[in-house]
This record gives sequence, structure tokens and C-alpha cells, in this order.
Amino acid sequence: MLTAREAGPVPAAADVRQANHAQAPAEVAVDVGQVDAGAHAAAAAALLRCAWTPPCVRYSDDYVRWHLSHPGAAPAVAVMARDGNRPVGFVALLPRGLARDAGTTSVYVLSFFAVHPEYRGARIGFALAARAVALADRPVIVYTQPGSRSARVLARAAEARGWIYRPLAGLRTYAGGSGPGHAGVAVRHATVEEYVAAVKGPLAPGDAWRLPTLEEAAYSLTDPRGACLAVAEREGATRGAALIVRSQLVTAAGNEDVPALDSVHIDADHAAVLSAFRVFALAWSGGAPVVTAANLHAVPAGAIREAGFRATRSSFDAALIGEPSDPFVSETRSTNLEVV
Ligand SMILES: CC(C)(COP(=O)(O)OP(=O)(O)OC[C@H]1O[C@@H](n2cnc3c(N)ncnc32)[C@H](O)[C@@H]1OP(=O)(O)O)[C@@H](O)C(=O)NCCC(=O)NCCS
Repeated sequence: MLTAREAGPVPAAADVRQANHAQAPAEVAVDVGQVDAGAHAAAAAALLRCAWTPPCVRYSDDYVRWHLSHPGAAPAVAVMARDGNRPVGFVALLPRGLARDAGTTSVYVLSFFAVHPEYRGARIGFALAARAVALADRPVIVYTQPGSRSARVLARAAEARGWIYRPLAGLRTYAGGSGPGHAGVAVRHATVEEYVAAVKGPLAPGDAWRLPTLEEAAYSLTDPRGACLAVAEREGATRGAALIVRSQLVTAAGNEDVPALDSVHIDADHAAVLSAFRVFALAWSGGAPVVTAANLHAVPAGAIREAGFRATRSSFDAALIGEPSDPFVSETRSTNLEVV
């Protein structure tokens, strides 16, 4: 019998084999439990590489380890499913700090959620998600692909704890190519101090914008894929900030590196500032034809187009998991937190 301990009722191994058209072992018990995040990074990365099909993120050992070691108000939480010694499922909660008009909030972003293709449909995904939610001592932000089964699994995991799963927004991934920026806005490399000062800009009620500590912002620059911090200025006044990373993808054509705008924070002149970030990111990348942005929720749609960005076919649904009585969970409308 294939069982996901802590998962509740599970199908018999024969049903799982049938559902997945794969050879599942006849007599196995899958253990689901918390593990040390850093020590299991390579195993998690290997699992993620076989769980996703291109086009997808390139889950190098270094990239996954770097995320799992991210500093924050709490350490990362990692949960692994194992069939004997074989890792067959993984999920992580990564700490992030957010600014709101009502102060600051520490959240987790749920990421690196995957079950080995041969083991799907046996409620291992649910067991992993339920364990992670049970371990969470703060709200959890999740990004799922529209229509994917992960959103249903995560909603049930929230329900199992008596928490809610609150859909927040559909986020389109945008791509911007070369083309003139905006003459009136200057974007330049920022020090860690300048960047953190710039993202402390004014917030509307319901906004929850990424606010790293100095240590966390400095850690961004150690991203093994390559990253830089940038600020936008107009007539000497700061207008916005962004984290620019070299995202690593696997496509049908092979490995591709694409500069990406993350944690885009714009106070005013949205189109002009976003356009200037586009031009800066392309120059920083050393000749990439496009820059992508997976979360421009905080930028008006008209300004995104005006800034030279077009919608791609890729999108994510953002949702919040947390206690129904927590105002952050019930009142947040928008976040610019990076899609991990
Ligand atoms: C999402 C994922 C982690 C779920 O893992 P899992 O162990 O298969 O999940 P569960 O068995 O707990 O639940 C899956 C749900 O989909 C259904 N399902 C599972 N396998 C299925 C299949 N082959 N065909 C149709 N439905 C299937 C299950 O019945 C269950 O729904 P139900 O509880 O309403 O019946 C796994 O599919 C995966 O690794 N996908 C690729 C990576 C990914 O998308 N990660 C999520 C990023 S947020």
C-alpha cells in the first residue's frame, strides 16, 4: 500500500500506477516530514528538475540552496516526502518582509512545491502542503499556475488548519524589448542603503510591498544567477526601485538567461519609470533582447503598455493563506513580492 503519512485517506498503489501510467513500488510507505532546508537543497533541486517540463525555471542546486538560506524574520521551512531514502516530494516556506500602510508584516512565500511524476495523485502533494501550512506561524503567499491542481491542493491544506485560502490577483508575465526609455527618468545602480530607503515609499491601504532589511537586500546581490539593485530618479527625486535578476530558464531550445524585473516599486510616473527600468535591465544584461516582469500588479495596465511591455502567455495566480481574523489576510489587495 502506498501511503502518505499525515495525508489521510490515500489510494491503493494499483490506483496510483493506473493514474500515472508509471511503475510505483508495490509495498512502500511515503514519509512526509520537516527537514533542514539548507541540508536538503540539492535533493530538492533534483526533484524540481524532474517535476517540471520546459519552459520552466532552471532549478540549479546553487539557486535552490541560495533561496533556502535566505535571511529573514524566521528561517525557511522545508518539508520533504520520502519513499525510503528516495526524495519524492518537497515544499518550502521562504521568509519575506512586507511594508503596509499599517506597518510591516513578515510572511512566508510558498515555493519549490513538487511531487515526483511517478508519485502523483496519491495525496503526497496535499500531505506536504498541509504539513507546511501547519508549521507556518505567519501568513503564506502562494503563486500557482492558473487552472493547475496545486491551487486546489493548497486550498485544501489551508482548510485542514482552519485557515483561509484567499485568491489575491491574476498576474500576467510581461516582456519588454529594446526601444527608447524615458528621457526624464534616470535609472542607476543603487547601494543596499539607497535601495532600502527607496522601497519605503508611500503605500495605499491594501498594498503590501516587499521591504527587505539591509541584510536581506545585501543577500539579494549574492543570487548565484546574478542580480543588481536599481533606483529611478526624476529631477533628483527618487521615483522607484527594482531588483533585477538574471533568471535562468529551460526552454524547448535549451538553457536561456533572461533579465527580469522583480519587486518593482514605483511611487509616481509609472510608465516613465517602468520604461527606464526596462532599458536599464537590458543594458545590464549585456545584450538580452527582452526583459520580463512576472509581478507588475502594483503598476496600472495602461502604464505597463506605455512603458514598452507586452503580455506573454505566462501567468500566475497569487493567493494568501492565513488566519481569517488576521487583517493582513483579509485586507491585502496587492503585492509586488517576487514570484519564486
Ligand atoms: C502540484 C503537485 C505538487 C501535486 O502533487 P500530488 O501529490 O499529485 O497532489 P495530490 O495527490 O495531493 O492531489 C492532486 C489533486 O489532483 C488530482 N490528480 C492527481 N493526479 C492526477 C492525474 N494524473 N490526473 C488528474 N488528476 C490528478 C488528485 O485527485 C487531487 O485532487 P483531489 O484531491 O480533488 O482528488 C504535483 O502535481 C506536481 O509536482 N506538479 C508539478 C510542479 C507544480 O506544478 N508545482 C506546484 C507549484 S505551486
